[in-house]
Amino acid sequence: MAKYTVVTMPGDGIGNQVLPEALRLLDAVEFDAEYVHADIGWECWRNEGNAMPERTVELLARHKIGLFGAITSKPKKEAEAELKPELRRKGYSYFSPIVSMRQRFNLDTCIRPCISFRGNPLNFIRKKAGGGFEEPFVNAVIFRQNTEGLYAGVEWTNPPEQVRNALATHPKFAPFGGTAGADLAISVRIITRKAARKIAKAAFEWANKFGYRSVTVCEKPNVLRETSGMMEEEARAVAKEYPEIALWSTNIDAQTMWLTKNPEDYGVIVASNLFGDVISDAFAGLVGGLGFAASGNIGDEVAVFEPTHGSAPKYAELNPPIANPIAMFLSAVMMLEHVGELEKAKLIRDAIEHVVSEGKTRTYDMMRIPGGRDAIHRGAASTTQMTDAVLASLAKIAEPKLAGALR
Ligand code: NAI
Ligand code: MG
Repeated sequence: MAKYTVVTMPGDGIGNQVLPEALRLLDAVEFDAEYVHADIGWECWRNEGNAMPERTVELLARHKIGLFGAITSKPKKEAEAELKPELRRKGYSYFSPIVSMRQRFNLDTCIRPCISFRGNPLNFIRKKAGGGFEEPFVNAVIFRQNTEGLYAGVEWTNPPEQVRNALATHPKFAPFGGTAGADLAISVRIITRKAARKIAKAAFEWANKFGYRSVTVCEKPNVLRETSGMMEEEARAVAKEYPEIALWSTNIDAQTMWLTKNPEDYGVIVASNLFGDVISDAFAGLVGGLGFAASGNIGDEVAVFEPTHGSAPKYAELNPPIANPIAMFLSAVMMLEHVGELEKAKLIRDAIEHVVSEGKTRTYDMMRIPGGRDAIHRGAASTTQMTDAVLASLAKIAEPKLAGALR
């Protein structure tokens, strides 16, 4: 019996192309796992009225570790129109399977490392004052609270009377009191002290374990006094347990500006749901963007690893596929780290680093050319060729026995 069982959820579009490539790397480092396929995404919605079927929930509940590709989602009207005819007008409504997964298993800690690979042509560079350019080395890890905040899903257009009445007890609601219900949309930003404390603790623990010298809480407490205020308060409380690690506090707006001025100064960053989403995408843009952005959604029991990108439908039908599988590879690396297979994780990471810095094999995004049918003719590596290159590099740096894993 294998040591681990991993639930694989390729999902839609390029998710189906990149996830199997990651398994080739996991096999090459002899990760002792069995893989159980689970359905998720658009076809499940169309055929079953549920993008996250109960059987998938059960598999995750049983095996605890998931590797996820990407899903397609569409606006409400289109989603309803694409349901198979017998399910239409039966009251099914589309709900994002990723959000349901995070909520069902309380995957409250989202980790998004944004670390430069040396030689990545997509790395951020900046002008030096005295002329020329420099390439700051970015090594930031974003901790995003994954279940609360503005993504809690407590929202209305035309809020019910009780909600309006409750809001009317707040003096600041007065200017909105006269707005007709149909013209009034409200999304509630909910932060609990428990979750704020937990994400701050996770951020400091990571900083401590991996030698980061600072944790930055990135919020907006001067305006969002209650919710961002609580995030900051809890970060301060946790910081007391880690006297060697500095606690910095930045506002989300200013942080996005500092990002391109001195990204190398930041280590671990902690934020609530929406701000964490924003700042992690912003940091990811400095280190290669969607082709390089990986994440882990971690709960007390279940953990699911996924690239940040979506299903890129416009490239999903291309043969050979052209999507950059590195974000998926790095998600698999995070999974290995999570289960404690640090050596295997490092092997894959080093092999990727070697391929990226050598620069011989580059997917279209790394060449800064448009994706599409022409990309391969213009010299871009296909998804599979990128995996082959990483496997070849693995074979060079690891024991010769790994060479057998090469196709
Ligand atoms: P997307 O991330 O799928 O693609 C945006 C663009 O980024 C692509 O057209 C492509 O140019 C580039 N790109 C993405 N991944 C890439 C990769 N691995 N290699 C090279 N280039 C890559 O986002 P988009 O187009 O906004 O959404 C497409 C679908 O994906 C939608 O249905 C959306 O709802 C869904 N989505 C799903 C996510 C998930 O599963 N976690 C996240 C974001 C979007
Ligand atoms: Mg995002």
